[in-house]
Amino acid sequence: MDRFIVCGGARLCGELEVSGAKNSALPILAATLLADEPVTISRLPHLHDVTTMIELLGSLGVEVVIDERMNVQVNGPSITSFRAPYDLVKTMRASFVVLGPMLARYGGCEVSLPGGCAIGPRPVDQHLKGLAALGADIKMQDGYVLAAVNGRLRGARILMDMVTVGGTENLMMAATLAQGTTVIENAAREPEVVDLALLLNKMGAKISGHGADTIVVEGVEHLSGCEYEVMPDRVEAGTYLIAAASTRGKVKLNGIDPMLLDSVLLKLEEAGAELSRGDDWVAIDMHGERPRAVDVRTAPYPGFPTDLQAQFLALNTIAKGTSRVIETIFENRFMHVQEMNRMGADIALEGNTTAIVNGVEALKGAPVMATDLRASASLVIAALVAQGETTIDRIYHIDRGYECIEEKLQQLGAQIRRVSS
Ligand code: EPZ
Repeated sequence: MDRFIVCGGARLCGELEVSGAKNSALPILAATLLADEPVTISRLPHLHDVTTMIELLGSLGVEVVIDERMNVQVNGPSITSFRAPYDLVKTMRASFVVLGPMLARYGGCEVSLPGGCAIGPRPVDQHLKGLAALGADIKMQDGYVLAAVNGRLRGARILMDMVTVGGTENLMMAATLAQGTTVIENAAREPEVVDLALLLNKMGAKISGHGADTIVVEGVEHLSGCEYEVMPDRVEAGTYLIAAASTRGKVKLNGIDPMLLDSVLLKLEEAGAELSRGDDWVAIDMHGERPRAVDVRTAPYPGFPTDLQAQFLALNTIAKGTSRVIETIFENRFMHVQEMNRMGADIALEGNTTAIVNGVEALKGAPVMATDLRASASLVIAALVAQGETTIDRIYHIDRGYECIEEKLQQLGAQIRRVSS
């Protein structure tokens, strides 16, 4: 199993190119199942989760061709199997978004229910309730969802009980080929939902309202092929900006629209960072100063993203003052707290939603263990600011969502290396 060995203390300085967004790439790959022709996707990040989704498409019999520039051509109609197996779905919950497209395009499919998850129970009831409203017959059998429809799905009005990104994506994809109009209310407004809608519209879908909380989909009879570039990864970008602020550094990120990170940039400014913004870049400068503690409360977009909570908490551990970090999206997303406290942080948990962080002058290197993707990134940030050496175990979590993280951090002057054992 690979580990990172990080020698803390270096200020991050330099420039980086932001990779394609994992959370956009995954539903976009699933959406290719809807088309009657091949779809070519570019700027796919080279990540374990993306490989898993490509493997899942392959297991359905879909031909996937990857060219020398990492453009991926997916030939959805070559599908030969209608079963997404447990072995793949259990390793990546996001594979559940093949359900909507397969049902809409082929009239039936069997998709394994995703199992437990380190950050909370994460049910899929909203996906299933919405598909049933579109006319699907849904059954559970032996851990699988068996979904079928006689003819085409039918447009319907769906009111989501809570804001769910994957639920919105699954239903939006299913509705593209339904007969009539679907209205999804209380829809997720995340930029990745918008990116998926833009791809679907390029394939010939008729979606409007994406980016707002009511999405309207007028069903069409078929979707065609196209070429599409995945949006930049705002969580990756946010992670590097928070790492730069934590290490009192100065970093410029290219290839990202700063508007995607508005809530995060405002928090970084509160922490004392100077930010400059262009159309497709953002730069941060801490002028060598220690950050100030900042309260954070996660919320659906455009609120502060849950996927950056752990990283901002790492910043708060060494900031001047006391802060309160509140997690409202997932039930168990503070697994990094125990590990940071082992590095000398002073964090107290109130229930499973609130962390009170007393900023300390410095953390100390220690052996720690990554528990999930974003928690791993937060431990890397903690290790970068700690005195001495930190070993981070189980970094396979980080390889699911950060492209070449050690190379990128080394490019900014960090002392980090991967050790395989
Ligand atoms: C997406 O997960 C992201 N994953 C997550 O990123 C992200 O943390 C999350 O959205 C929230 O922004 C991908 O896009 C692949 P949800 P998703 O459905 O779609 C509850 C990362 O680190 N809920 O918006 O699975 C659910 O339990 C990952 O990159 C139901 O109760 O999240 C949660 O509390 C982790 N019933 C809340 O809604 C449902 O049917 C939001 O979940 C669906 C969700």
